[in-house]
Amino acid sequence: MRLDINLAYSCELIIDNCLHTLGSYPSIRALAGKKALLITDNIVAPLYADTVSAQLCSCGVTVITHIVQSGENAKCVDNYLSIIDTLANNNFTREDIVVNLGGGTISDLGGFCASTYKRGIAYINIPTTLLAQIDAGIGGKTAINLPQGKNLLGVISNPQLILCDTSTLSTLPSNEWSNGMGELLKYCLLIGKPLLHLMSSWRINLSNIISICAEYKAGIVKEDFLDYNKRKLLNLGHTVAHAIERMSNYTTPHGLAVAQGVLLTVKYAYAVGKLTNADYDSLINMYTQLNMPHIDHLCADDIIDYCLNDKKASNGGLEIILINGIADCYIETVSWQQFHSILTQTLSK
Ligand SMILES: NC(=O)c1ccc[n+]([C@@H]2O[C@H](COP(=O)([O-])OP(=O)(O)OC[C@H]3O[C@@H](n4cnc5c(N)ncnc54)[C@H](O)[C@@H]3O)[C@@H](O)[C@H]2O)c1
Repeated sequence: MRLDINLAYSCELIIDNCLHTLGSYPSIRALAGKKALLITDNIVAPLYADTVSAQLCSCGVTVITHIVQSGENAKCVDNYLSIIDTLANNNFTREDIVVNLGGGTISDLGGFCASTYKRGIAYINIPTTLLAQIDAGIGGKTAINLPQGKNLLGVISNPQLILCDTSTLSTLPSNEWSNGMGELLKYCLLIGKPLLHLMSSWRINLSNIISICAEYKAGIVKEDFLDYNKRKLLNLGHTVAHAIERMSNYTTPHGLAVAQGVLLTVKYAYAVGKLTNADYDSLINMYTQLNMPHIDHLCADDIIDYCLNDKKASNGGLEIILINGIADCYIETVSWQQFHSILTQTLSK
């Protein structure tokens, strides 16, 4: 007997000024009579939790709010267990829902709680940082960190709905803008011209930039939801980024760490003759204009030490993303020795 088991991972993404009108969306109205656990952090809660809660209540949803301390350390086992306690103590069933309101730490943490509680209940992401609206809130990768490494405990499980309200970005502090810009640089290399053009325009249209990144990521996720193939390209710069984050005990935010990982990839490509002078100069200019961190303080041996536990690592080496040029990235498996040589060659430039 042979059966084809087709799995559908459908998910609705709305990019609009939707926070104050959430209750008018059919997929929110359909939650009438259910319970929602609104997960957010102590910075986002006073800004947006009341609005979201009121909108859900107006649709007949019973809202319980769980607030964690903001920052990367929110993605810890203690918070995970405490949220699971809240779900269980309030008798959440598989009909109920989790709503993640905040940056990527909240969607990673809340998504993981929702996806593992009772073997998985539905969740909604309402990303409120640039980084989360272009990347973290989309694609269903959820995880928490362990002392041994970042995102070591997680699952891939799509949110039911993603609501991006770009007006929430008006309250972002400048360092969080830079953080988002770091991840945006990754998309510049992956997507190339259409995004670079928007970035170079004198008046940046944020909604268009978010839409173009979201659409690109959604397209890749649709093709390779479980991350066996093309989706790995989204890890551009991430092996080094995760090492930098851990080395700094998470005081270097994710986006700025990604910017450094991507810069290393750009410098390596240039060093081995894969990037034209013009492309290299325009990328380096963009880094300077956006005030992105340099990489000359990094040390190859330290990076390797922190990469040993990377998800993309195996005993023989690890998978990294390299580039042949702008919008031409590829996956390469390298030995630890080769990786060391790539790092030393590039860091000495
Ligand atoms: N799952 C994925 O696909 C994926 C992709 C990229 C990154 N990530 C993860 O995302 C996390 C980083 O996300 P992040 O950069 O959004 O960090 P974050 O969630 O820590 O948010 C950054 C800071 O901004 C504050 N904040 C959020 N929204 C705000 C708003 N509208 N106004 C004012 N302050 C606001 C938060 O309280 C926090 O202090 C990392 O853990 C990273 O690993 C996940």
